[in-house]
Amino acid sequence: MTEQYSFETLISREALAAKVAELGKQISEDYRDKDTVFMGILKGCFVFMADLVRQVKIERLEVCFMAVSSYGSGTRSTGNIVIKRDLEADLTGKHVLIVEDIVDSGHTLTYLKKYLSNRQTASVKVCTILDKPSRRETDLVPDYRGFEIPDAFVVGYGLDYDEQFRELPDLCILHRNGEKA
Ligand code: IMP
Ligand code: MG
Repeated sequence: MTEQYSFETLISREALAAKVAELGKQISEDYRDKDTVFMGILKGCFVFMADLVRQVKIERLEVCFMAVSSYGSGTRSTGNIVIKRDLEADLTGKHVLIVEDIVDSGHTLTYLKKYLSNRQTASVKVCTILDKPSRRETDLVPDYRGFEIPDAFVVGYGLDYDEQFRELPDLCILHRNGEKA
C-alpha cells in the first residue's frame, strides 16, 4: 500500500512569526553586548535560524552550523548521536546559543551542550522553537523555548519526516494512512 499523508495545522505561520519575534527580543536583551555565536543544528533549524537572526539586535553575532543525526528514518530517537558536520569556528571566549528545531528525548542537546562546553566557551545555552517535555529521557531544560507541544510527530517549519515536508510554512501534525505518524 502506498503511504497517504495528511497534515493537521498545530501552529500557524503567524503564531510562529509572533513567537520568534518575542524570542528575538528577549535574546537581544540578554546577548546585546556579548560576543555571540548562534550554533544552528542542521538540518531542522534552518527555517527557525533564518527567522530568528532577523529578529535580533546583537553587536557581535556570528552564525555557525553543525549537523548531527540521532534518527534513522523513523520517528523515534535512538540516543546515538552522530556528528555529520563538525564546527569550524573557534569558540574560545564566545557565548554560544544552540539553535534547535525541537527538543524531544533531549539526547541530542545533552550531548551537544557537553561537546561545546569543552571548547573554552564563555557560556552555552539552548534555544528551541519547539519542546516535547513529555518525551524527555534526560534532564535537559531549554533556556529559551517557543512552544510546548504534545507527543505527536510534527513536520514543517524546517522539520521533516524522512527528509520530506520541511518546506511547509505551518507546523503540522503528520498523519499517515489516517493515523498519527
Ligand atoms: P532528541 O535527541 O530526541 O531530543 O531529538 C531531537 C531531534 O529529533 C530534533 O532535532 C529533530 O530533528 C528530531 N525530532 C524529534 N521530534 C520530531 C518531530 O516531531 N518531527 C520531526 N523531527 C523530530
Ligand atoms: Mg534536528
